[in-house]
This record gives sequence, structure tokens and C-alpha cells, in this order.
Amino acid sequence: MSKFHIAVIQGDGIGPEVTSAAMQVLQKIGERYNHAFEFTQSVCGGCAYDRYGEPLPQESLDICLQSDSVLLGAVGGPQYDGLPYEKRPERALLGVRKAMELYANLRPAKLFDALASVCPLKHAANIDIMVVRELIGGIYFGEKGMRTGKYGREGYDVMCYGELEVERIARTAFELAQKRRGKVASIDKANVLKTSGLWRQVVHDVHADYADVQLEDVLVDNAAMQLVRDPSQFDVIVTGNLFGDILSDLASQCVGSIGILPSASINDTTRGLYEPIHGSAPSIAGKDIANPIATILSAAMMLKYAFNLSAEGDAIERAVETTLAQGARTADLAQDGLPVIGTREMTERIIRNI
Ligand code: IPM
Ligand code: MG
Repeated sequence: MSKFHIAVIQGDGIGPEVTSAAMQVLQKIGERYNHAFEFTQSVCGGCAYDRYGEPLPQESLDICLQSDSVLLGAVGGPQYDGLPYEKRPERALLGVRKAMELYANLRPAKLFDALASVCPLKHAANIDIMVVRELIGGIYFGEKGMRTGKYGREGYDVMCYGELEVERIARTAFELAQKRRGKVASIDKANVLKTSGLWRQVVHDVHADYADVQLEDVLVDNAAMQLVRDPSQFDVIVTGNLFGDILSDLASQCVGSIGILPSASINDTTRGLYEPIHGSAPSIAGKDIANPIATILSAAMMLKYAFNLSAEGDAIERAVETTLAQGARTADLAQDGLPVIGTREMTERIIRNI
């Protein structure tokens, strides 16, 4: 029997509900395929601030660094809005990503057949996009501060990318494209930003090693429009941290709901961070209405990418697809004629389909 140590950051808001759903699913996979998944809680985010006065205590980070991989729910909440920047729950998430050096964030947006009518786009079909977002550089991690300028107080954040940062994320994108439909769209703002000029140049240099992949450059404003106009034109999208944050939320809505989009944050090791792309959704927390699918599918990505358990990951994805096809809908996916079920029932039904 193989054994895997998973650090679990339940976090805030709906985080505890959706991570327990994913843990139950992993438990079932363990029984079915004879693996032992051992979970260790790591307290991070707003709840860590409440308890320890800081969002990312060293002990919590160490649990992540000593694990085989990390499962995360969500962090944040309105009660923390007044906190200084360093104490905000989001610092925990950014801190874990940075400390684990998870430079590549993979966010697949795929339209399930069963959700075609939940999708807000008129002619939705064949949407299957992999957003590859650079995760530990760019404006998120550049120099930032406050100063006084011509218009009074100024806040500033520097956007900067080094060529090695662009090169490695470009390679991630090209390699994924080789296993998919062979197309990469690199998204930038090269008509205005120096950062993007370098980004574009490096992506094209790296492309020379991947002649079988088709590359196009798309300006970020146009990319937003194209995603709504015809998302099926995209295969792999590669972009920087900020553009990736925005475009992945947009892509999620193209396939029905942000409640079903998983993500994998990875690097060249097997230890990664697996989390839904949605946030802590404080307004629906604790009410058993959150959609657990994004976190459950994140667990499936963990099985595939971190533990090399493809069949087991596929089994989860198939169970989710079957459950949706059987008409199971959480509130975010509500559809005429289908009863809305809660977090726990959705989880139970998925588990039954494994
Ligand atoms: C995401 C989130 C985070 C981000 C926030 C919570 C810091 O929006 O994972 O997309 O901006 O990266
Ligand atoms: Mg985001």
C-alpha cells in the first residue's frame, strides 16, 4: 500500500466545507485503490491570524514543506479588510506559493456536456482551455510601497519579469500543449508594457524548441474579448500573474461556474499546491451550499500531477461528470427543473459514483 502525506489548509469561509469534501473523496479513492492518504492540518489565512496573530505561522508553512503535497480551500474574509497588508489572509496564500516556489499555476476550464445549458454563452461548445499562469513573479511580487507624489499619497507596485521566469513558464505551457491540441496563446500587453515586450521575445525564443506547437500572441484586452466571443479557439493560454488571475476567473464563467474550476500550482518537483480557483465566499460559508466540485477536481489533479496516479485522478473526474449528468446541481449551477442540493449531498453523490 502506498502512503501519501497531504497537508491541508482549510482556511476561511467555505474553505473547511470544500476541503472536507475533497478529503472524503480521497478517502474513498484510497479504499478503492489501496492507498493511504494521511492528512495534516496546516492553519493558514484569517483563522491563523485570529489564533496566532499572523496569517502564515512558520509551523504551518513547515507542515506544507514537509508534506508530499498541499490541498487548500480558500483564505480571506471581510472581517480582515482593515488589517495591514502583511497581516491579511491573502499573504498566507502568496507566502505558501512563494516559499514552495510554485511558479506554474494550471487552471483548466472545460465545459462538461451536462452543463452546456448552465453556460452563459450562446454558442458554447468544445470549451477546453488550460490557463497557465505564472504564479510567483510579476506585479504580485515586485517592489511595492507607499510614497508621496504629485497627486498626494501614492501606492505603487512594480511589474517585472526576468527572462528565466518567462522561459520556465513558457516551457510548461509548450509541454502541456504537446499533450493537448498543440496550440499556445501567449497573452501580454506588449503594445504598452516593457515587461510584456521581454515576455513576448522570450516566449518566441523558447518556442524554437517546440516546433510542433503553434504559437500566437494575443493582447490581454483582446484575449478577454475573445474568451467571451469564442472560447473554443483556445487550447493552452500562458500569461503572467495578474493577467492570469483575471482571465482564469473569466474562463471559469465561460464553462458555467467558478465553483467547478480546480487548479494545480506546481514546479519541477512533485510537491505542489492544489486548490479551487474560487475564494472563501464568506456570504455562503457554513450553510452547506458551496459547490465542492472545484476542490474535489483539485484533489484529482493532485493525484495525477503529484502522485502519478492517473487512473485514480480519472476516476474522480469521471465520477464528477457522471454526477452532473445525473442532474446533481449545487446552487451556483441551478438549472430549471433540477433540484438544488447542498455541499454534503453533492459530495456523497460523487463518492457513490467512484
Ligand atoms: C487566486 C486568488 C488569489 C490570487 C488571491 C486570493 C490572493 O484570486 O488564486 O486567483 O490573486 O492569486
Ligand atoms: Mg483570482
